[in-house]
Amino acid sequence: MSTDLCTLMRDPKMIPYVKQSLLSQIADQAASLGMPSYLVGGFVRDLLLKQPVNDYDIVVEGDAIKLGEALVKKFGGKLTPHYKFHTAIWHIPPLLNNERSRLDLITARTETYSQPGMLPTISPASIDDDLRRRDFTINAMAVRLDGDDFGALLDPLGGLDDLSKKLIRVLHPDSFIEDPTRIFRSVRYEQRYGFKITSQIGDKALETLSSLSGDRIRHEFDLILKEENSASMLARLYDLGIFGAFDPPLPGFNERYSDLLNAIPPVVFGVLGNRIVTGYLLWLIDSKVEAVASLAERLNFSSELRQISISAIQLKNDLPSLKSASPSLLTFKLEKIPLIVVYVLWLVSEETVLKEFLVRWRYVKQKTTGNDLKAYGLVPSPRFTEILTRLRAAWLDGEIVNDGDERELLESLL
Ligand code: CTP
Repeated sequence: MSTDLCTLMRDPKMIPYVKQSLLSQIADQAASLGMPSYLVGGFVRDLLLKQPVNDYDIVVEGDAIKLGEALVKKFGGKLTPHYKFHTAIWHIPPLLNNERSRLDLITARTETYSQPGMLPTISPASIDDDLRRRDFTINAMAVRLDGDDFGALLDPLGGLDDLSKKLIRVLHPDSFIEDPTRIFRSVRYEQRYGFKITSQIGDKALETLSSLSGDRIRHEFDLILKEENSASMLARLYDLGIFGAFDPPLPGFNERYSDLLNAIPPVVFGVLGNRIVTGYLLWLIDSKVEAVASLAERLNFSSELRQISISAIQLKNDLPSLKSASPSLLTFKLEKIPLIVVYVLWLVSEETVLKEFLVRWRYVKQKTTGNDLKAYGLVPSPRFTEILTRLRAAWLDGEIVNDGDERELLESLL
């Protein structure tokens, strides 16, 4: 594994020139304030693995909010400071980065956990301390950004060695207990990179995990569902007993649907794909409504996610009878359901009528309008909807096939 980070960091295939120049401006600004600066965590890990790097987390030994303020003063943009965490988000002006983007500026810090599973208390510290507060050795490396030490690797915990041995190792035995979301993170890295978790998770960590807030757990599932290997991550979590640690236990993911997690809706379907929502629907569609209602409560689903998860289950249960329904009945029913639900049910069932609905039937409309009915001398009333719906149903069911047919049918209804 190449450890010549200087060369890697100057390689435009790894870091585009515009980003390199941005990083060097930030490092200079930090240095002028007397703050050594580093890129840390995922950036260093992915750079060493020669994977695309996306996350540019900048840590300074000093006050990251002050650095942010100086950057805004010099280059513009906007700063969102988080005083409690000594961090800031710099919303970078497009001129500096070719695009609208944001960068996390972090004060090197220690974290102490007053109680397992609680969020930590933070105090400013050295970069070495900052690396020691982290989750895994492979995420506990930093690369220096400023001055003559540009490109120097800081690896006090053997991250590089574990990276080359493909191991996910926590920094101390209580790590999973202090922050049980690290269980999800370990599985995410393990399955993403084909590594192996080498640390014991242990019963105490599982117990603490079961007491975490719904939002924190759901966030971890959201991150998993965004990943290309999410199916193997969910399977691994299940095998590790993570799903069983909750009360009631979380339903397992149906492995038959694994490939569907990466499906992209065909353009002709006109469905806006959403990986995370599709993932939850595929995960929950075979469950019982009551089980999903209690899971939605436990993971604090948004009311929208809760509602579409339940409607996916109901629609799947109704599918045998819907298959034999007329196109009009089916269309009128499916129109009341979010398109993503119909799409996911099509993914799992490959039922032709669902595809017909998505591609054709939902666009079929009668020609007659309310104004036409008024022109016939009718006074607006619920009867309007009845007539127009009847005409649309006739088109959908092939009872009428041209404008003349529609006019004839309309006249027979008046
Ligand atoms: N981190 C940690 N414990 C956590 C969350 C984050 O120690 N519970 C540290 C790790 O050093 C991690 C860094 O914060 O590398 C940034 O976190 P995050 O952005 O979530 O992860 P990345 O390493 O960027 O990984 P990914 O590619 O999954 O985003």
